[in-house]
Amino acid sequence: MSEIIASDKKHVWHHLTQHSVFDSSDPMIIESGEGMRVTDINGKTFLDATSGGVWSVNVGYGRTEIADAVRDQLLKMCYFANSAGNVPAAEYAAALIDKMPGMSRVYFSNSGSEANEKAYKMVRQLAHINGNGEKYKIIYRDRDYHGTTIGALSSTGQAERREQYGPFVPGFSSFSHCCCYRCPFGKTYGECNIECAQDLERAILEEGPETVGSVVLEPITAGGGVIPPVPEYFPIIQEICKKYDVLLHIDEVVCGLGRTGTWFGYQNYDVKPDFVTMAKGVASGYAAISCTVTTEAVFEKFKAPASERMPYFRDISTFGGCTAGPTAGLKTLEILEREELLSNVKKMGTYLMEGLHHLKNRFPVIGDVRGKGLFAGIELVTDRESKTPAPESYAVQIAGACAKNGLLIGRTNRSFDLFNNTLCLSPALIATKGDIEEIVSIIERSFEATPLQN
Ligand SMILES: Cc1ncc(COP(=O)(O)O)c(C=O)c1O
Repeated sequence: MSEIIASDKKHVWHHLTQHSVFDSSDPMIIESGEGMRVTDINGKTFLDATSGGVWSVNVGYGRTEIADAVRDQLLKMCYFANSAGNVPAAEYAAALIDKMPGMSRVYFSNSGSEANEKAYKMVRQLAHINGNGEKYKIIYRDRDYHGTTIGALSSTGQAERREQYGPFVPGFSSFSHCCCYRCPFGKTYGECNIECAQDLERAILEEGPETVGSVVLEPITAGGGVIPPVPEYFPIIQEICKKYDVLLHIDEVVCGLGRTGTWFGYQNYDVKPDFVTMAKGVASGYAAISCTVTTEAVFEKFKAPASERMPYFRDISTFGGCTAGPTAGLKTLEILEREELLSNVKKMGTYLMEGLHHLKNRFPVIGDVRGKGLFAGIELVTDRESKTPAPESYAVQIAGACAKNGLLIGRTNRSFDLFNNTLCLSPALIATKGDIEEIVSIIERSFEATPLQN
């Protein structure tokens, strides 16, 4: 055991980690998992309210049937480049499209970032197919995250995450976030004109509508602080996209496959996307897979008579041909349906939100609670009147206290200066009432034991 820790400390470069912390402490090494719980190498078990740290293991740990299906498939046919087909990919694509009325084609790759990059490349190529290549720009939203590759980071509205990684790819520009608690227009919902959505029109006009190909949005901003839009939001976005012939790309990397109680986050709202990208929950963390899904109308644009100069999508993702991903994806879908997990998410989500409102009533340091389904954020402030964000170090302390008490929670992490003050909850979709009670009660104890020091 100490050998593993020593090897880790000597050779592993952990994600999102300032390694000087390991001068005086050891990294957490997770060794096993079952259902909602994980156990570290020292034998300490945690209730995991993060689904694997970053919203991924939606059907919980230790699913023998997924492991068995993947094993059987790998022995039969592990991999062939996706320029050819494979059986689980065809089956999974059909099963997925069945959940997405209006969508038609699935392009497989490996990560959320990559899925988004594929959509960006499609938009750029469409600009050439449809015209002179001018309509290539992509608008993104403040506080949204779309991935770690330079293209995806160029479309990410989190300044601190981008810091020191520039210069960025040209052709990306931003519009306003939609967090009512911190309305960028100083308005109050109910008395506003949904200026946050209208701001998309400003961004398109500023760039020039003839140059804007698409807008990319998370259905609910995830890592940017768990921000669900108001119901009027997406219909306005859709109208503006239609008006300027701009394609709508919804990034479902976090919300996709049940997290919010519908198959996809956008299905909570009245909107029809042209691209939907997804990754984390697709195979519930049992295999690496991501999908860029689009309409038949977009797909048709990439077809041409064989004699014409290649307009087809000249892109490949080597491991988009792995069969483990769609096999685990199929089993994940089967489990979601058989165990009626979407309706569980709705029920448990309501229960979780009630618990969080109870905490908000008890602790003035909680300025706002928000979310949908089994996806929630707790925004911390130094005082409710001024809404001054609590320092990131306080969110770290609360998350640390929860871990000490046997609960893993997430938080906004060096994303935007001064606003890394939201705790994030995303338990597996199998969570029971007992699990939710335990989550809320451990957070309650952790706040009691960790007052904010001014
Ligand atoms: C909304 C969203 N899009 C894209 C990504 C990037 O996914 P990946 O880390 O698989 O590249 C993430 C990752 O957290 C995400 O939250």
